[in-house]
Parts: sequence; C-alpha cells; structure tokens
Amino acid sequence: MDKTVASAGISIVESKSTMNAGSHISEVPTSFRIVAQKPKHTATPANDSVRIVSIEEYKEAALCLADAFAEDDVARYFIDVPDREHWSEEERWNLHVEILEYVTYAHCLKGLVTTVGPNYGAVALWMPPGKNMDDYLTMFRSGMWRLYYRLSPEGKKRFFTEFLPLLHDTKHAVLGEHDDDSWYLVYIGTRPSARGRGYARKLIEHVTRKADRDGKLCYLESSNAINPTIYRKLGFEERRKVHLQRAEKDVELDIMVREPVRIENEKGKIKKSTLN
Ligand SMILES: CC(C)(COP(=O)(O)OP(=O)(O)OC[C@H]1O[C@@H](n2cnc3c(N)ncnc32)[C@H](O)[C@@H]1OP(=O)(O)O)[C@@H](O)C(=O)NCCC(=O)NCCS
Repeated sequence: MDKTVASAGISIVESKSTMNAGSHISEVPTSFRIVAQKPKHTATPANDSVRIVSIEEYKEAALCLADAFAEDDVARYFIDVPDREHWSEEERWNLHVEILEYVTYAHCLKGLVTTVGPNYGAVALWMPPGKNMDDYLTMFRSGMWRLYYRLSPEGKKRFFTEFLPLLHDTKHAVLGEHDDDSWYLVYIGTRPSARGRGYARKLIEHVTRKADRDGKLCYLESSNAINPTIYRKLGFEERRKVHLQRAEKDVELDIMVREPVRIENEKGKIKKSTLN
C-alpha cells in the first residue's frame, strides 16, 4: 500500500476511562501530546527465524513494507490521485511510507507484527481473532488520524468512503459469524531483494500453525495477480473478487480464506484434513 519519514508520533495521556472498541468520538481523551519517537536502529538478527517486531522497531518494519508495496496498485490508489498530479515522486514516497508507519504502529499496538530475515527482509501485519484497530485510541496513538490531513480530498474519498468500507463489509460478508474470530493477514511484504527465500511462507506458517491448533480461519485481501498462486500453496482459497473503481484503472482485490487444518494420526500416518 504507501522520504521524509514522520519524525514525531503521538502519545495519549490516557484517562482513567480507557478507550475500547466501542468508544464514541465524544469519549476520545482530549489530553495527548506529540512526542518524538526514536526508531530503534537494531537490524534484524541475520538468521531466518521468525520473530515479533517490537513497537520501537515500527519504522524499520514499515520501511520493508514500503519497499515491498512500492508499486502496488492499492497502495498507490490513495496517492496517485488527480488532485495530487503536481506532487513529486519524493512527496508520494513520503506519504506511502507514512501510511505504512501508521498501519504498522497500529498493529504493534493491537495486533501482531512479525519479521524474518536480515534487515527486516519480510514483514507481516496480522490482526488476531477478537482484535481490531478500529477504536479511536488506536487511531490516535498510531497517528492514523493524520491521514485526514495528509490525503488529498480525492485520496480521502478513496480511503475512507470507498476502500475501508469495502474491505470491512466484504470481510464481514465472507466470514460471517467468524468475522471477529479469525486471523486477518492485513499486510505481508518481502523486500524485492529478499524474495524467493521462503520468508513469506515462514511468516504465514508461523500463524497458520497456531490457527490450525486453535481451529481458526485466516483471511486476506490480495492486490497482485500472482499472489493467489502463492497463497494457494499455503492453504488459502479464493472466495471472491472486489474492485476499487474511482481511478481510471480498475483495481481488483482477491479475497482469500484459509480453513484450519487438522493433523490426524491415522494408522501411524499423519493425515491432514480441513475442519469444516
Ligand atoms: C508475495 C510476496 C510476499 C512473496 O514473498 P516471498 O518471500 O518471495 O515468498 P516465498 O519465497 O516465501 O514463496 C512462497 C511460495 O510462493 C512461491 N512464489 C513466490 N513468488 C512467486 C512468484 N512470483 N510466482 C510463483 N510462485 C511464487 C514460492 O515458490 C513458494 O512456494 P514453495 O514454498 O512451495 O516453493 C512478495 O512477492 C511481495 O512482497 N510482493 C509484493 C507485495 C505483495 O503483493 N504482498 C502481498 C499482498 S497481500
């Protein structure tokens, strides 16, 4: 999805009545301060095991995603807009990175951010069952609220009135009663220089192993025509296609779901079968 990286983050001075997912705007704590958020410049250990990204590392993780999604149609959809035609490529890149920093920070706060490979070779943003980043506190703490000011009028229409509702409604329609009870792979990206080393497989299997143990579905949207082939190898199946239609070019997203797999011991053999 989205070169001066925002140098400041936002920190809420939380009131006693801490926010939750059902909070209303009137309940938003009014006391907050902008604080400098120093990225922790620790490179990922040079081994190939999956590890969880801490909140101090959000900028590095976001930069990996920015590289991976530099030419992604959905990522560019909010940035390559007619009312920002005058923008330079540098300004577009800065906004692209910024958007991914907000999203990554929100997932560090509320979800699961994992990485594998040296220098954040690949990064995945997951929202675990029962979690979401829709609450106002997360919007504020992650800086997501800034998108109201950073996106152009057309970019805002695309992001807030087309993209977010389409994704929300589609996920609900596809998962039904499992909507709040499934793993959601919001982003996965491998730097172009690190592709083909099995990093995406490792990041996905890190969660699907747990999802299988717990009998949970996994859900994703994919914007790249080659990706369904990759995700099918990891147990996902296409459920439907959705389209973003405010640009000249139609942008198609594949919606895919992975059923949990049960490992059964049958006559001494390991057999895999889906639960549903
Ligand atoms: C999609 C993406 C994350 C794959 O990352 P990766 O680390 O190169 O993937 P892996 O090396 O783990 O490959 C996983 C499997 O897919 C296959 N695969 C990977 N890229 C492929 C390609 N371009 N064409 C066909 N198969 C491919 C691999 O052979 C592997 O299969 P195997 O384990 O059975 O051998 C990466 O290409 C990327 O970041 N793309 C741009 C961003 C994007 O589209 N993200 C997903 C949006 S939801």
